[in-house]
Amino acid sequence: MIRTDHQIERLGHHGDGIAAGPVFAPLSLPGETVSGVLDGDRLKDMRVLTSSEDRVKAPCTHFKSCGGCGLQHASDEFVAAWKVDVVRQALAAVGLETAFRPIKTSPVRSRRRAVISARRTKKGAMAGFHMRASSVIAEISDCDVLHPDLMPALEIARELAVLGASRKGELSVTATLSDGGLDIAVSGGKPLDGAFEAQLGQEAQRLKVARLTWDGEVIAILVPPVQRFSRARVVPPPGAFLQATREGEAALVTAAQEIVGDAKSVVDLFAGCGTFSLPMAETAEVHAIEGEAAMMKTLDRGWREAQGLKRVSVETRDLFRNPLMAEDLRCEAAVIDPPRAGAQAQTVELARSDLARIAFVSCNPVTFARDAKVLVDAGYRLDWVQVVDQFRWSSHVELVGAFTR
Ligand SMILES: C[S@@+](CC[C@H](N)C(=O)[O-])C[C@H]1O[C@@H](n2cnc3c(N)ncnc32)[C@H](O)[C@@H]1O
Repeated sequence: MIRTDHQIERLGHHGDGIAAGPVFAPLSLPGETVSGVLDGDRLKDMRVLTSSEDRVKAPCTHFKSCGGCGLQHASDEFVAAWKVDVVRQALAAVGLETAFRPIKTSPVRSRRRAVISARRTKKGAMAGFHMRASSVIAEISDCDVLHPDLMPALEIARELAVLGASRKGELSVTATLSDGGLDIAVSGGKPLDGAFEAQLGQEAQRLKVARLTWDGEVIAILVPPVQRFSRARVVPPPGAFLQATREGEAALVTAAQEIVGDAKSVVDLFAGCGTFSLPMAETAEVHAIEGEAAMMKTLDRGWREAQGLKRVSVETRDLFRNPLMAEDLRCEAAVIDPPRAGAQAQTVELARSDLARIAFVSCNPVTFARDAKVLVDAGYRLDWVQVVDQFRWSSHVELVGAFTR
């Protein structure tokens, strides 16, 4: 096995160091010289020969094995600057530039949702996150990312694996913090039958979860797993999208509210369960559109049960295939928060509309830049971008862009 030396030039979008070639060197940083054995274009058995000033000792003891975090070896300042730069470069690639507000990074131990992997073992069961680029589970005892109230979900995942993982299969346990306690949705488990369902019902009580869902079937709701959006309380469908941290959600909503300003009517596109719609309804009438009917039902109910909000109407609609046409965008402002694929078709309609303000929330700088270019070409200004980091120590980047005309 021949070792070769490489000079790391930059980080790729997944957080790997990249040297000339390109050669990908996981857990390395720009400016470092590393050596290792080439396996295709990846460097294995890597050693850092000269280390970057941005390198720090990883705060978590599980960092080497657990694939949950990818950037604990870099200082907070480096990660913050890198995330802003990822967005800046994505915009530059389509010929755009703008002002950047200081990044808002969620605190350590603030994540309110996690997808935990669990499986049976000879001795019982194990739970944790997959090792880096591997299907093997790294069992963890502590985590600097998860909110302390979410930590019991690891033990719950283990217990559920003992009961309901097939011999070789792996459970995927989505655990979400709610006002009622832990909201647990399991997939990949043993098929349900009457006896197993009854057993799971008892287990839900013993584990004191708020709700237990098994492969899409709600087994038990012991306490409603309520989420609060402004003054409204909603019970999202099991596993429904939710911003990853309370702090991240607050940063995104605050930025969107600033962009929307005093608009009296707002359309919320890709609205989910109402993260933006319900706070916006404090001051504006909102029309919320989302592809999942169950989420729209949740949002509608949350609004009806809340006191003092302005009117919120809901519409279930596939915004990829059937975007809201420019002629129907008869409001003063829009919030749009599409999935990673972005909102190509809907953006074309926004570009044709008379809307004065658009708050564009995105979890993918590349599709954001693509869609931003369509808006700018149609006469919108991209006034500023706020990067929000709710996925501390990962390569994930989120942002809000302020478009006006
Ligand atoms: C990034 S989430 C944002 C949800 C919400 N704005 C929030 O912050 O909680 C994207 C949302 O788009 C919805 N979605 C995905 N594809 C869609 C489509 N083709 N049409 C409409 N909604 C879609 C998802 O169900 C999800 O709720």
